Amino acid sequence: MMDNIKKDLDQCRKPLGTEGKEMVERMNKNHYEVTGWGLQMLNLQDDSTVIDLGCGGGKTVQRLTIHTPDGRVYGLDYSEDCVEWANQLNEEAVNEGKVVIIRGDVGNLPFEDEIFDVATAVETIYFWPDIERSFKEVYRSLKQGGEFLIINEAYPHEDHKEKNRAYEEIGDMVIPSGDQLHEWLRNAGFKKVVIELEEEKNWIRALATKE
Ligand SMILES: C[S@@+](CC[C@H](N)C(=O)[O-])C[C@H]1O[C@@H](n2cnc3c(N)ncnc32)[C@H](O)[C@@H]1O
Repeated sequence: MMDNIKKDLDQCRKPLGTEGKEMVERMNKNHYEVTGWGLQMLNLQDDSTVIDLGCGGGKTVQRLTIHTPDGRVYGLDYSEDCVEWANQLNEEAVNEGKVVIIRGDVGNLPFEDEIFDVATAVETIYFWPDIERSFKEVYRSLKQGGEFLIINEAYPHEDHKEKNRAYEEIGDMVIPSGDQLHEWLRNAGFKKVVIELEEEKNWIRALATKE
């Protein structure tokens, strides 16, 4: 049982190979609802330039293109297989130059300063090795007025204590609270941070704006 959870969490951390492909297909479906809830916070424009960090199978990238018909959506992931799968899912938009999928690490973004209007991170920051450094990288790459949206399906809560603690231990991951997110985002330079919870589902969304 524990071995299976560990295997799954390892594939969530960095999906690779046949098992990774099955995992991203599951995530593309299973993260759809929480992603939709989170995306409501964004102030997307038709011509926004957006990046989805830890894009996995590329479903959120695909979804963001619908809201930015005159813009461009980037996806970034450190798994070479995810880059391939996200490219496949978004093939048409990639061929049109509307979507660009890049292999890279969130701790060292391969972009110049101030080029994105919006950055999103769905179900991924649990695995980032140095969250504050990565948040600083996001801040650097955002334009003035740019928005950084974090969407997680878990945060520390009494009703979910056992499950979340087991995940953190077995998966070597961090499930941050709203207060923790707030502190890291402020330390990265974001002055305005709004955090909202969906308590029954244990969901959390955080929107940080570069002012
Ligand atoms: C649980 S999956 C979520 C994928 C996708 N965002 C979704 O909602 O379906 C986490 C993703 O983050 C990526 N990831 C984790 N750490 C990363 C890092 N340091 N740099 C870039 N990508 C990372 C993983 O490769 C994986 O695709």
